[in-house]
Amino acid sequence: MKIVKTIKEIREIVLQQQKKGRTIGLVPTMGYLHKGHLSLVEAARRNNDFIVMSIFVNPTQFGQNEDYDKYPRDLERDARLAEDAGVDVIFSPEVKEMYPEGYKTYVNVEGITEILCGKSRPGHFRGVTTIVCKLFNIVKPDRAYFGQKDAQQAAVIKKMVSDLNLDLEIVTCPIVREEDGLAMSSRNVYLDEQQRKSALILSKALFEAQRQVLEGERNKQKIRDNILKMLHTEKTAEVDYVEIVNADTLEEIEEIKGKVLIALAVRFGTTRLIDNVIVEV
Ligand code: PAJ
Repeated sequence: MKIVKTIKEIREIVLQQQKKGRTIGLVPTMGYLHKGHLSLVEAARRNNDFIVMSIFVNPTQFGQNEDYDKYPRDLERDARLAEDAGVDVIFSPEVKEMYPEGYKTYVNVEGITEILCGKSRPGHFRGVTTIVCKLFNIVKPDRAYFGQKDAQQAAVIKKMVSDLNLDLEIVTCPIVREEDGLAMSSRNVYLDEQQRKSALILSKALFEAQRQVLEGERNKQKIRDNILKMLHTEKTAEVDYVEIVNADTLEEIEEIKGKVLIALAVRFGTTRLIDNVIVEV
């Protein structure tokens, strides 16, 4: 498996494959791979002939006081995991390759980027859509794979693809969890032992909410209050948001009906974790 650093080189490699009639699957990541990332590779392999994984800690999607500098990085380990999972080539450019001096163009999806995570992370999704759009233009994949873990990110990217008539399919894959329920995340390494235990309350509260809905509860406020009550049993948990919205559009809903996304963000110290479940009734 090759690791390439330049746009020119990845374009040449992809072009060679396309000339042979092979389809291209792209898995965009910021590295520090875990089983969540690898599940995207597995899904990509099922439907594409050639798999490109990008590994790039994208500075434009981090806020000024966020963790860009300390974000975990280990390209050597990532390369081993990616190769074992069946990635054909890793594209891992330097920052100046993606954002050369004088860079001025950004892609911004309005509306759905201003709710949920967008409220406490202004500018975050603008950074995500900009880098993802660039990756799509560079790699020109037939399909690109994203995790339901970042439900809002997946919805925002689908909106960008639709609005800008980008010619590829976006595939969303289920959340991969640790055995005890914690959603896998590169940021879980920031948690100390106590926080790691406390963080279990996120999935517990979501699964409980899911159970209540499936057993017939339709009152959004009640479900939300129950989640908040459970989260508050962990004294160190600082709730950013708990929201129940339409799973496809992320629009507000009055009562629980159809396909609904129950999403939350909670801080433990300086570490912000997100998780969600989809319930269909
Ligand atoms: P990153 O956090 O590295 O995640 C890369 C992809 O893996 C995303 O699509 C994310 O939703 C998915 N993922 C992460 N944890 C997962 C889990 N537990 N189960 C299933 N999928 C999971 O998301 C980003 O990077 C960046 O914003 C990126 C899209 C690469 C743009 O910079």
